[in-house]
Amino acid sequence: MDKLLCSDDEIPPDGFRRDSWNDIFRDWLERSKIQGADVIEVGVWLWYNVWLLLELGAKSVVWSDYNSNVIPYAIRNVQKTHPELAHKFKAIPDSVDLLDHEIIREVLNTKKRVFVVACIPQVARHKNQNFWHDDIAHYYYFEDCQEEEWNNIGLGLNSKLLRKLREANSEAIAVLNTAVRVWEENLFKMFKNNWYQPEILAKSIIPQCPTTNLSFFESLEDSGILECQFFEDPDWKEHISAKEAEKRRLAGIKIYHEMYVVQWNPQKQTY
Ligand SMILES: C[S@@+](CC[C@H](N)C(=O)[O-])C[C@H]1O[C@@H](n2cnc3c(N)ncnc32)[C@H](O)[C@@H]1O
Repeated sequence: MDKLLCSDDEIPPDGFRRDSWNDIFRDWLERSKIQGADVIEVGVWLWYNVWLLLELGAKSVVWSDYNSNVIPYAIRNVQKTHPELAHKFKAIPDSVDLLDHEIIREVLNTKKRVFVVACIPQVARHKNQNFWHDDIAHYYYFEDCQEEEWNNIGLGLNSKLLRKLREANSEAIAVLNTAVRVWEENLFKMFKNNWYQPEILAKSIIPQCPTTNLSFFESLEDSGILECQFFEDPDWKEHISAKEAEKRRLAGIKIYHEMYVVQWNPQKQTY
């Protein structure tokens, strides 16, 4: 595990630091059956998952990110810590929106057992809003996912990924890291709306990232769409609203939310 620690010069200046989302996703990836599979990681960030995917026995890993600034750092990090695995990965240097790249299409069209692994933003922001800290890692543009049914509760980008994956390869399996701030029921509707039964690989409760602005969730409450699910303590007895959560976050008080790693498996299709 020590090998995972990066020094600051391996983190791009516009980047966020490794946090509990990374750690949990990485630990839980071990439970998915990716041995012998070809894997695509969407939104690789700095590489934290790539070495693990390869060590777990993935045949190959293709990875990309919308923020292409991170790619050289990611390549360097893998080459530095795991040079023996470097021949199995292919990094796409361009900015790639979800699956929209020739190399990814080729994997989806030609390989038999494909896993798509992703932990992509679940907070929407409007294009005319100011940029916030580590913007692209945590927020997506509401306007870019307007056609997605679950966009209004922040699941538009994930829903778009599942829809595009199903259109490209109806047998590919997705493993997604998803926060449960908008309740399990809504999260599952988003998965089922894409025609597959979600399977929870693992659940946990983790601290809300202190730099993520929660005003999007407050706006869901203000407009009466739903009251969100945050917790004041890791024992998650009582939930608190987004309004209360944001007040505490701004005051520097820790708050928590649930986190699921969900496998989306077409073999378990129920519709
Ligand atoms: C929270 S980080 C996850 C990092 C890494 N996958 C992990 O789990 O450790 C989210 C990543 O998704 C990327 N991202 C955001 N929007 C994206 C999009 N539309 N297509 C591909 N990647 C995207 C961000 O640049 C960022 O690197």
